[in-house]
Amino acid sequence: MTKFMAFPTDFLWGAATAAFQIEGAWNQDGKGESIWDRFCHTPGKIGDGTTGDVACDHYHRYRDDIALMRQLGLKAYRFSISWPRVIPNGSGAANPAGLDFYDRLVDELLAANIQPFATLYHWDLPQALQERGGWGNRDTCGHLADYAALMARRLGDRVRHWATVNEPQVIAFLGHRNGEHAPGLEDDRLALQVAHHVLVAHGMAAQAIRGVNPQLKVGIVIDAWSVDALTDSEQDRALAETIWQNSAGWFLGPVFHARYPSRAWQMYGDSAPDIRADDMPLISQRLDFLGLNTYSRLAVKKGRVVKPVPGSEYTEMDWEIHAPALRRMLVRVTRDYVPPPIYITENGAAFPDAVSPDGSVHDPRRIAYLRDHFAQARLAMDDGVDLRGYFVWSLLDNFEWSNGYSKRFGLIHVDYATLQRRIKDSGKWYAQVIAQNGVEI
Ligand code: FCB
Repeated sequence: MTKFMAFPTDFLWGAATAAFQIEGAWNQDGKGESIWDRFCHTPGKIGDGTTGDVACDHYHRYRDDIALMRQLGLKAYRFSISWPRVIPNGSGAANPAGLDFYDRLVDELLAANIQPFATLYHWDLPQALQERGGWGNRDTCGHLADYAALMARRLGDRVRHWATVNEPQVIAFLGHRNGEHAPGLEDDRLALQVAHHVLVAHGMAAQAIRGVNPQLKVGIVIDAWSVDALTDSEQDRALAETIWQNSAGWFLGPVFHARYPSRAWQMYGDSAPDIRADDMPLISQRLDFLGLNTYSRLAVKKGRVVKPVPGSEYTEMDWEIHAPALRRMLVRVTRDYVPPPIYITENGAAFPDAVSPDGSVHDPRRIAYLRDHFAQARLAMDDGVDLRGYFVWSLLDNFEWSNGYSKRFGLIHVDYATLQRRIKDSGKWYAQVIAQNGVEI
C-alpha cells in the first residue's frame, strides 16, 4: 500500500547548480580566471583530466535550460554567480558583459515563473585574489562584500534570496588542508584561518547586501552530515560528537552561537585562528534563512569511522545512502542552533546513468534516493523543523570538481560530446512530485 505525504502549499521545490560546474565560457566576454580554471589547467589535479572550459555550456544555453526547468515545473532555482565573470580581477572594475549575463538569466527565470536563489561564492575565487593570498588574506573578505553589494544593486530588484557562501567547510578544509580542491594547499593552520575569514566574509557580505536593500533575504549555505554512533558506548558517542563539532559544528557554532565549539577549539591548540574583537558579532548577525546541504552521514563504531557500513548501499561518490540521517540532522540543527527558516539547498545522488537506445535514461536508484529523502524531510517538519524548500542537486549532470565529469548527479542527462540534454526518469518523476506537491512512498 502506498501512502501519500503532502507538503505545505507554498513549499518551494527546486534544483541547484553552481556557475563553475555548468557555465563553461571560461575566458569569454571579459571573464577573468578563477582558481578553479587554474586548478583544472594544472595536470594531475582532476581525476579524469577534464576542465570546466566548456562544462555544460550553460552560458550559451541558459534559455534552453530554463525551458527544461519549466518542463519539470520547478518553483525555484538555486544558481551561483561567477565572481570573476562579473569582476575579472576580484576587486575593481566590473565586467558589463558578465553582469548582463546574470540579468538575462534572472529575467528568463522570472518569465518562467521560477524564483531565483543566488549564491555569491560557490568556490570560484578570482585567481587575481589568490595571487594576493586568497582566503588567507583578510582583505578578500572586504572584496567579497564589495562584490555582494554590486550584485545586490544589480539584481536585488528581482532576486530576493541571497546566500553569501557555499559550504565554508569544503572551501577551508578541501581547498587548504588536504589540497583536493582549488587552490590545492595543504596547511592545517591556514585552513582554520581560511575558515574564519570565510565566515567574516559572510558577515561582511550580509551587511553589504542589507546596506543596499534591507528587504533582501540573506542566508548562508552550510554542509551538514549527521554523525551517528552505531553503538551506545560512551566512547562512540563522544567520537561522533567530536567529529560533528569539527565539521558542521565548527561553522554553525560561530554563525548561531557567536563562538567556536570549545572542545574542538582546545584540540587545535596553536593552529586555532586569529580572531579580531568584532568578528563574532559580525559572523553571528541575524539571518533570514539557513541553507543546508546534505548527502549522507558518517557512522562511528568501536572508536572509528566505519566504511562501508555492513548492509548499506553507496552512491558513485562512495557516500552511504541513509535517508533517516537527513531527518536527524535537521532536528538536531533546529534543537541546537535555533536557526531561521531552513532550505535544503542541496541533496541528491550520483549514479552511473546510461542513455537507452530509445533515448531515455532510466535511473530508478536516484528516484528511490530522492523519494526516501523527501519523506524524511516531511517527517522532520512534523518534528517541528521549519523547512521551506528543497533544492535537488543537480539540475544537470555537470563538472563534479576534482572528479571531473565522471559523477552524474543530474535530473537531466548531459551528453558531453554533443551537449544534448535528456530529462532522466528521475526528472520526470520529480515533475510529478512537484505537480502533486507531495511524495508517494
Ligand atoms: C557539494 C557542492 C556541490 C556539488 C555536490 C555534489 O559539496 O556544494 O557543488 O559538487 O557537493
